[in-house]
Formats: sequence, C-alpha cells, structure tokens
Amino acid sequence: MENSSPLVLMLLGAALMLCLHPLQAQIDGTGLFHDYYAKSCPKAEEIIKSIVEKAVKKEARMAASLLRMHFHDCFVKGCDASILLDDTSNFTGEKTANPNRNSVRGFDVVDNIKAALEKACPGVVSCADIVTVAARDSVVLSGGPSWIVPLGRRDSRGASLQGANQNIPAPNSTHQTLETKFKLKGLDVVDLVVLSGGHTIGLSRCTSFKQRLYNLTGNGKPDPTVDQGYLKQLTTLCPQTGTDDNQTTPLDLVSPTKFDTHYFKNLESGKGLLITDEILYSTKGSKTAALVKFYASHSQAFFQQFAKSMIKMGNITPLIKPSGEIRKNCRKMN
Ligand code: HEM
Ligand SMILES: *[C@@H]1O[C@H](CO)[C@@H](O)[C@H](O)[C@H]1NC(C)=O
Ligand SMILES: *[C@@H]1O[C@H](CO)[C@@H](O)[C@H](O)[C@H]1NC(C)=O
Ligand SMILES: *[C@@H]1O[C@H](CO)[C@@H](O)[C@H](O)[C@H]1NC(C)=O
Ligand SMILES: *[C@@H]1O[C@H](CO)[C@@H](O)[C@H](O)[C@H]1NC(C)=O
Repeated sequence: MENSSPLVLMLLGAALMLCLHPLQAQIDGTGLFHDYYAKSCPKAEEIIKSIVEKAVKKEARMAASLLRMHFHDCFVKGCDASILLDDTSNFTGEKTANPNRNSVRGFDVVDNIKAALEKACPGVVSCADIVTVAARDSVVLSGGPSWIVPLGRRDSRGASLQGANQNIPAPNSTHQTLETKFKLKGLDVVDLVVLSGGHTIGLSRCTSFKQRLYNLTGNGKPDPTVDQGYLKQLTTLCPQTGTDDNQTTPLDLVSPTKFDTHYFKNLESGKGLLITDEILYSTKGSKTAALVKFYASHSQAFFQQFAKSMIKMGNITPLIKPSGEIRKNCRKMN
C-alpha cells in the first residue's frame, strides 16, 4: 500500500490500542470490562459505594451480608441478580431456598442503591453489577483488599430455587462436596479456601452449626475438632433443645467485623464455627489444610488471592448484551 506511511500505521496502531480494553475483556470469555459504564453512568461506582458506606456505618454486619449475597447470587445461574427476585403468586424465586431463607440479608440496601442509580442514569446499571460492586466495597470497608470489578452483567429474567438448594454448599457438607460444588462453578481448592475466608466477617445462626455441638455423625457426640472452651461457649448460646435457633454468633470470634486472617488462625486452634470451616483445616493431609496454614500467617497473600478469587467468582457465567435485561426494580423482572 503506497499510503501506508508510518503516520498512518501509528494512527492505526493507536486506534487498535483504544479498542484493546474491551477486546481483551471479550477474549477472556466473560464480555465484562471495567469501563463498561464510563459513558453511560460515570458515577455508578461512586453512588454504589456511598450507599454501601452509609449502610455499613449504620450496621457493620451489613458488609458481611452483602458479600454473602454476591456469593449466593453467583452460584445460581451465574452472577445475574436472580437472588433478588421476590416470590409472587405466579413466580418462585430463590429467597426461600434453604441456604437463603431467613438468612440472606441486605436486599433493602440494594433497593436503595438501585433507586439512586435509576435517578442518576435510568435503565443503565444492572442489579447484578450493583451486587458485585457492593460486595467489593463491603470488603474494602471492612479493612480487606480492593480490586477492579469487571462490569456489564445484565439481570436475569428468571431464578432457580432448585439451583439455590443444589449449588450452594450446606454448612454440613463434606470436604469432597465442598470441592465438587466449587469445581462445578469453575473454582479450585485455592478459591475454596480463600473465599471461605469471607467468613472473617459476619454472623451465623445456631441452626447452621448446631449439629456439630451435639450429634455430628449420629453417635450423640460433638465434633471432636472443636476447641473445648469454644464448644462450651457455643452450647451455652445454642442449647440442644427448646430454644431459639436464630441466635447468632460471629463466624470469626476474634475480629467479627474486621477483614483479616483471624478466620484461618481460628481454624488452626479449633475455633472455626461451621463444620465446613473447620473441615478445611482438620482434613488430614489435604491441600486445603496446607492452604489454611499458609494464609493464617500470610495476610498479603490472602488479600491478593481473595481479590483474584472474587473476580473469578464474579465472572461466573454473566448475562451479557443482548441477553437479560436491566431491571428497573431489582426485586422483579421488567
Ligand atoms: C464454602 C462453602 C460455604 C458455606 C458452606 C457457607 C455457609 C455459610 C453459613 C451457613 C452462614 C451462616 C448463615 C446463617 O446462619 O444465617 C454463612 C455466612 C456467611 N458467609 Fe458463607 N459459606 C460458604 C462460603 C462463603 C463464601 C464463598 C463467601 C464469600 C466470599 C461467604 C460469605 C459469608 C459471609 C460474609 C457470611 C456472614 C453473613 C452475614 O453476617 O449476614 N461464604 N455462610
Ligand atoms: C404473573 O402475575 C403478574 C401480576 O401479578 C402479571 O403481570 C404477569 O403477567 C404474570 N405472569 C405470568 C407468566 O403469568
Ligand atoms: C446436613 O443437615 C441436613 C439438614 O439439617 C440433614 O438433613 C443432613 O442429614 C445433614 N448431613 C450430614 C452429612 O450430616
Ligand atoms: C443423634 O442422631 C441420630 C441419628 O441422626 C439419632 O438416632 C440419635 O437419637 C441422636 N442422638 C442424640 C443424643 O440426639
Ligand atoms: C427464626 O426467625 C424466622 C424469621 O425471622 C422465624 O420465621 C422463625 O420462626 C424463627 N425460628 C425460631 C426457632 O424462633
């Protein structure tokens, strides 16, 4: 080409580079990229953060609740805000699934964020992206790592009660079941251990761990891996019969609102709350036990890997244009 002067080639190169960001995002297979709302709603992340901040200031636990909501969203049909849909007379969503019922919280905070975003840029920012960004902000506000959230998820036009019951691990899952359920979502044992580290913040109800206090395997005995003092504390809070299993206690007894490595340290001393927490450490010779040991004393490595694993979890089969929709109200399909 006689016109291919160095200048033209340079311009061409520059033009290509400008396209590279979205292109790269396309190549990684998700179709998501960080600048997604740069033109359509430049203040989106700022608005989300300000409302999460207010909510967490009001109640520190809300950070944990929003983090968990994202996990429960992503494990069912991908991160598509399916968890936010309310049941109606002719629609059954995920809110009554065993892992979610009387347990997942923070829906009102998402509503507040959505209302603010609809005011600023109507019909633009998905509920799925709101939940994803709010989870990141929650971790940051709790003293954890930050990361750049790929964006552009769209909202589902359905939900799966069955998926919620099947895909989200129960708190008495076996080590093998944990590995399998994560693997089915494209997450490996490093992701399993590090994301379980999300239990460095937040609370659990007695009902989620009572089995291990009294009758772990049906032999009438408590889980032998629980520290004796801790066991006493927990049995006082959660008597075997005739009481309120809605009582709550921290998943990380040392620093329940601070995102740190105490979750892993607790496991080393038999003070993990859920069966599925302690089992990561107590399974002899397992890769998860080695990882727990490592992260207990390597805070920076934990933070770095947590950020990576959160991005990985946040990228589970998103709906991208032209699939899905941008809900006007996160609780119902348009
Ligand atoms: C590995 C499998 C997991 C199991 C079996 C599990 C199970 C549970 C259970 C039973 C609770 C207490 C719920 C209640 O009693 O109401 C809980 C709370 C929580 N989970 Fe998980 N979880 C797992 C993984 C994760 C992951 C991957 C994250 C996020 C990265 C996460 C974040 C949280 C948080 C932050 C809370 C506290 C929520 C609050 O205080 O509102 N969990 N989890
Ligand atoms: C379900 O009910 C709502 C009103 O409650 C109605 O608008 C909607 O069309 C119904 N959907 C189906 C699939 O029947
Ligand atoms: C786990 O808990 C459920 C519900 O409480 C119970 O039906 C099931 O038998 C338990 N599984 C194991 C392995 O203990
Ligand atoms: C423990 O569980 C087994 C089977 O689930 C049951 O048969 C037994 O009665 C229980 N023991 C106690 C002490 O609750
Ligand atoms: C726990 O709380 C839920 C709703 O918040 C309620 O429906 C349930 O009856 C409570 N369970 C107990 C044992 O109090």
